[in-house]
Amino acid sequence: MESIFKRTHMCGLLRAGDIGKEVCLNGWIAKRRDLGGLIFCDVRDKTGISQVVFDDKIPKELFDKANSLRSEYVVGVKGEVRQRQSANPDIATGDVEIFASDLIIYSRSETPPIYIKDDDNVDMNLRLKYRYLDLRKKKMQDNLAFRGKVCKIARDYFYENGFTEVETPDLIAPTPEGSRDYIVPSRVEPGSFYALPQSPQLYKQMLMVGGTDRYIQIARCFRDEDLRADRQPEFTQIDMEMSFIDEDDIIAVNEGFLKKLFKEAMGIDLKTPLPRMTWDEAMTRYGSDKPDTRFGFELHDLGQLDVIKNTEFKVFADALASGGDVRGICITGGAGKYSRKQIDKMTEHIRSFGAKGMVWIKTSADDISSSVNKFFDKDALKKIAAEFDAGNDDLILIVADKPKVVFDSLGYLRRAIADEMGMLDPKQFNLLWVVDFPLFEYSEEEGRYVAEHHPFTHPKDEDIPMLEEHPEKCHARAYDIVMNGVEAGGGSIRIHDRELQDRMFKVLGMDEETIQSKFGFLVEAFKYGAPPHGGLAYGLDRLVMLLLGEETIRDVIAFPKNQSAQCMVSGAPGPTDADQLDELGLELKK
Ligand code: AMO
Repeated sequence: MESIFKRTHMCGLLRAGDIGKEVCLNGWIAKRRDLGGLIFCDVRDKTGISQVVFDDKIPKELFDKANSLRSEYVVGVKGEVRQRQSANPDIATGDVEIFASDLIIYSRSETPPIYIKDDDNVDMNLRLKYRYLDLRKKKMQDNLAFRGKVCKIARDYFYENGFTEVETPDLIAPTPEGSRDYIVPSRVEPGSFYALPQSPQLYKQMLMVGGTDRYIQIARCFRDEDLRADRQPEFTQIDMEMSFIDEDDIIAVNEGFLKKLFKEAMGIDLKTPLPRMTWDEAMTRYGSDKPDTRFGFELHDLGQLDVIKNTEFKVFADALASGGDVRGICITGGAGKYSRKQIDKMTEHIRSFGAKGMVWIKTSADDISSSVNKFFDKDALKKIAAEFDAGNDDLILIVADKPKVVFDSLGYLRRAIADEMGMLDPKQFNLLWVVDFPLFEYSEEEGRYVAEHHPFTHPKDEDIPMLEEHPEKCHARAYDIVMNGVEAGGGSIRIHDRELQDRMFKVLGMDEETIQSKFGFLVEAFKYGAPPHGGLAYGLDRLVMLLLGEETIRDVIAFPKNQSAQCMVSGAPGPTDADQLDELGLELKK
């Protein structure tokens, strides 16, 4: 008795051309139907399913064995490929079936707790707990294979272009990315801790000081931050860095990669060079530094209209008087579509961005109305509507507040409404570079400027003279690659000049001690000859999610964490025993 049937074909690849062949398949029982003298089984592997038939002409012992098959039993089947009586056009192997002549049961399965079907509606936590079952779905296997292909294309491209793949350590001192770190206690030095890398940032810069010239790594990164559909605590970057270059070089090399990626993974000819948009333009037109440019609904600045400038309506007047903005978007065809109740819901939603309210104007063929009729007569409303070139059935939404609140609210609304109106086609790929980011961001919480990217980001050359006087006006030599409204990657040209780096640290309010403790080793390395350099990192998970049109990165990660950052398969994180704590010199707070 053979212990294993050597596979001749994958289950999903048999076609009419195979009719007459003796084949051997290995896989899982996806379905079993008993029609009296005939048993039909679907056998599944990662390529799909084949239908296997056991009829009562085979030896009784074999027929009985086939009769004992249940869902998810693991089997080997030998038999002849025959034409199917009634073809199933819904599956790739639908023209054929295998008439079994032998069967081996490798292992049996209990009734699986989740249904293994691509379009199931199973609770995410259950899917994650039984991920090994979830992964048996063809879609999940296809997603994993596609992800692997993206990694291979990246490696091929960067290797072809003179990049060296280098691994950087995972047990390190904290990185400057600015999220919360995952911490690992040291046994050898009780009371001391490693951080897991938020990115290989400092190490790739040291590789440039070390002469590596062109670096690439498919790197694991760890950030203890609040989770969203496109965020995981543990994720992967395609991380690159180059020496003796400027931002045009980095962008050109990466456009080469994206072109190859789209061609080889998607069969799409990506038109390069990709458009570039400054951060200022992205914010004023789209209210977001990751603008989705697949549709319109662009923001308009209403603060410059006389009817708004001179209004007695306190909300607008106060916003403008205190240096804030009054801006709006116009939803074409939105007047009839959205009821007051729905608009109230939107208003409720943007409260999370700090908005205190929202004004609406609706146009129709013979009227114009608004939520502020008391302050704006029809003539004034028409002037506002004219700013948007509004038609006969449009909905104008206006927010007045601090610029950030206005941008965040309208940026969110334009995309959420476009999504609801079915305007976001995941198969339409819209890529652009957002460039010239602000260098600093003022942190109310910390009462100081913090780096928008990280403290090693090079200021725009023309802004260097006003670094100390007007940090808020300085822009960075930083760039993000934005795809369908998602930040797929980002990077910058780094500071390699010590004097400039010192000025930067000062503006960031970092004293010598902080600098030394945080990144003293990089500052030290820069004393010994740092080349001009810069780089970029893609979020691999996000890139794959976008290319596949998935809504969450969890569907492109084999074992992702759940909303509470737990690994549902292993149960991590969990308690550790007292001995281990003792060895680490740690004690749990009561
Ligand atoms: P940044 O912090 O912008 O830059 O990260 C680069 C890209 O990584 C992805 N990303 C994430 N993906 C999934 N889950 C997360 N929690 C997560 N956080 C970030 C995003 C993002 O664009 N060292 C710099 C790069 C550089 O300057 O070269 C860095 O890490 O797609």
